[in-house]
Amino acid sequence: MNLTQEINRRRTFGIISHPDAGKTTLTEKLLLFGGAIHVAGAVKSNKIKKSATSDFMEIEKQRGISVATSVMGFEYKGYKVNILDTPGHEDFAEDTYRTLTAVDSTIIVIDAAKGVEKQTRKLMEVCRMRNTPVMVFINKLDRPGKDPFELLDEIESELSIDVRPLAWPIGDGENFKGVYNIFDKSLYLFSPNKQTREEGIKIKDTTDPLLSEYIGEETSQQLNEEIELIEGVYSQFDINEYKKGKLAPVFFGSALNNFGVTELLHAFLEIAPSPLPSKSDQREVQPNEDKFTGFVFKIHANMDPNHRNRLAFIKICSGKFVRNRNYLHVRLGKQMKFSSPTAFMAEKKEIIDEAYPGDIIGIPDSGNFKIGDTITQGEKFMYKGLPSFSPELFRYIENADPMKSKQLAKGIDQLMDEGVAQLFINQYNGRKIIGTVGALQFEVIQHRLLNEYGASCRYEPINLHKACWIQSNDQKQLEEFKKRKTQYMAKDKYGRDVFLADSAYMLQMAQEGFDKINFYFTSEF
Ligand code: G4P
Repeated sequence: MNLTQEINRRRTFGIISHPDAGKTTLTEKLLLFGGAIHVAGAVKSNKIKKSATSDFMEIEKQRGISVATSVMGFEYKGYKVNILDTPGHEDFAEDTYRTLTAVDSTIIVIDAAKGVEKQTRKLMEVCRMRNTPVMVFINKLDRPGKDPFELLDEIESELSIDVRPLAWPIGDGENFKGVYNIFDKSLYLFSPNKQTREEGIKIKDTTDPLLSEYIGEETSQQLNEEIELIEGVYSQFDINEYKKGKLAPVFFGSALNNFGVTELLHAFLEIAPSPLPSKSDQREVQPNEDKFTGFVFKIHANMDPNHRNRLAFIKICSGKFVRNRNYLHVRLGKQMKFSSPTAFMAEKKEIIDEAYPGDIIGIPDSGNFKIGDTITQGEKFMYKGLPSFSPELFRYIENADPMKSKQLAKGIDQLMDEGVAQLFINQYNGRKIIGTVGALQFEVIQHRLLNEYGASCRYEPINLHKACWIQSNDQKQLEEFKKRKTQYMAKDKYGRDVFLADSAYMLQMAQEGFDKINFYFTSEF
């Protein structure tokens, strides 16, 4: 198979949802139907259990397990499918955002009874930043849920995306009869808890008398009316609009009952994009270029405290990656060879000799990599699209053991490279501030500094509302701002100016008072 064929058969995507909508269950069912796993329950271990929300030790343990399932690759009907797992726990949202920079499309899972939830909205914003194509799976149809038309309206208005149902549910809860597949005009009848799926019943259209034989006269009439309404209200499915990230096809089903999952998978394989071009600071890179390039989007620390080895996850953007070949680590300007790159198949991790665009490989790392690092075959550019998001929680971090200040500095540095949290140095008092998206990270950092670096830290409260990056073409106003706000100015780890606003009001006043200054809430602008 040549490079183009390898690229065309790849589908690299992420499944995202508000916790509990059914992401883990759907992932597992896709793997099951794809033949990648043989027993249910294999992916469950990756889920940070509800009981563990305040128990970070348990989360740490599970982090170890989750390395194996962070990327789940499998072969299915000639396609190479790569599912990138995203942590469901809200406190690890930043990890999820970064993972989404490595996917070519996403499937959003929505609970039919709950509709669009907080995390669904946030994740959709991240998809929108890159115009990532989105497919929607409305789950838990076996339970009473909201009216499907209402759900579609809610998705359109709350997620600001057009929708087009490609399947339609027949009833819900106890009256859930099945799904009519608008895409291929067939009827799938529901029977709970089937392990395998039967073929759908082919019908001509919703006026076919066969339909009422299966679902009864009244229901069939209602379905008929609803389908007519859909055809009248929604325009035909336009794959190009989907690929531009403007239109989301919608499917209905019940992941737990194996229902609607194969339709979703088949439609997904048919319409979802193969690896897309990637933006760098110099040019756009096409996946079918001869030369290999890729970037690090995730770093996972080894759970064994005796080895500080980490695993860097590289998304391949172009060309063919070959084991033991010399590649350029652009930021360090250093040639490197990778002797044991691993691929992640659903149930195992194995060393591979080559990999293609869309694939994710794991490279053992002893501290050479930071998130966002670019590897090429000699060309000097850096991939874009891996922003840090303005954190929401802040604390001063202080050394609790004066004998270990070196270890502490090194530990903080490496944890920040991994993207566990962000570090800001207050320019006024020189104190270090840790900013995170979730409260749990503070405990994780403290625990890991002690266990992996032998350093103890303590936190002190700081009253901060937001940290935002500032930039201006008006040097004079910028200097004036920095002078006036001197107590609130900090540098991020790349030395960029960051404004620490202690309240929404203060931020608003600053924005109004200094109109030549741009305030950014992600680090890439
Ligand atoms: P998440 O990864 O998005 O957080 O959700 P997950 O798949 O873990 O599903 C959350 C809960 O919803 C689970 O129940 C799961 O069994 C249930 N669920 C998933 N899909 C369906 C569905 O189609 N119908 C119904 N009725 N329930 C569904 P749990 O009790 O929290 O966990 P468990 O004890 O069943 O594992």
